[in-house]
Amino acid sequence: MKNLRPVGIIGTGKYVPEKILTNSDLEKIVETNDEWIVSRTGIRERHIAAPDEATSDLAYEASIRALASAGLKPEELDLIIVATITPDTIFPSTACVLQDKLGAKGAAAFDLSAACSGFVYSLATAVGFIQNGMYNNALIIGADTLSRITDYTDRNTCVLFGDGAGAVVIGEVPKGRGFQSFDLGAEGAGGPLLKLEGGGSRLPATVETVEGKKHFIYMNGREVFKFAVRVMGAATEKVLGKAGLAKEDIDLFIPHQANIRIIQSAMQRLDLPPEKCVINVDKYANTSAASIPLALVEAAEEGRMKEGDTVLMVGFGGGLTWGASILVW
Ligand code: ACO
Repeated sequence: MKNLRPVGIIGTGKYVPEKILTNSDLEKIVETNDEWIVSRTGIRERHIAAPDEATSDLAYEASIRALASAGLKPEELDLIIVATITPDTIFPSTACVLQDKLGAKGAAAFDLSAACSGFVYSLATAVGFIQNGMYNNALIIGADTLSRITDYTDRNTCVLFGDGAGAVVIGEVPKGRGFQSFDLGAEGAGGPLLKLEGGGSRLPATVETVEGKKHFIYMNGREVFKFAVRVMGAATEKVLGKAGLAKEDIDLFIPHQANIRIIQSAMQRLDLPPEKCVINVDKYANTSAASIPLALVEAAEEGRMKEGDTVLMVGFGGGLTWGASILVW
């Protein structure tokens, strides 16, 4: 990517719904306890969308902040990609709903479905469009309302998920800065480990699919855990290699926020001290596509990235998929 037009982040914004669901709140709903949740996952609380809030509403709030920080008007946008597995509706896409809400007349808009890897997949897609000269800028949002597809009678999954949105505006940046490399991948054979079966063309919604809880997330946690540890390490090494960097060059590590133990194993493999890793899984839980952008935007807002810092983002999720990127801030 070195000889191509340099593309980087020129604006950031985030939004989480107001309502907080704590571990002790969950203790009243299912048989669980704060100690189990914190020791197994690192999660203490998560934000939950209000009944009248859908994914496009979360995305809108994050987007207006990102546009303001980029100093860009909505009508100047060329492209909008919403990474999500919880679109407002199957169609129109959430990106089209958002385009209208923002008044981004003329911008191309589509959703991208790669679960928790969706934000990195979307970045790679949009960077390609800008590098090849088709567009000059893009708004990329990772937004999910997982509370709408979570079974709050299933303790195996309901403690793990939360709602939120993170947005970035990308465009041309000075030489030497911006995205240096990407590594995207998929293992479709692992799809059954993490899925939502109902409501698609294979199993359209019926009374039976509702009664059979086919409209909720199903996850084989142990197997997904093993996959996550394996691909986080492999993708990290690959993306560093593609950028011609070593692990010692990483200034800030932004992993997908699913489970503190998965993050710690990646940190050990990279030999990274805690101050080089962004962790907010305790506050937001796993917000799927919103997880990496929420962490990235929070790190930017807290001033944790200096100009020229090397940032490594890596995520994994349903599909199964993974995505990693190196960014010079
Ligand atoms: N409270 C108390 N006990 C629980 C709870 C809970 N909330 N949940 C499960 N348990 C019990 C289980 O029933 C099991 O009991 P048993 O041994 O009597 O059957 C016991 O705790 C241990 O269960 P394990 O599954 O072995 O627990 P583990 O240590 O593997 O942790 C977890 C489970 C947290 C789900 C872990 O496997 C994990 O984080 N996996 C990865 C999840 C992930 O990253 N998912 C990404 C999804 S992203 C996307 O694309 C939407």
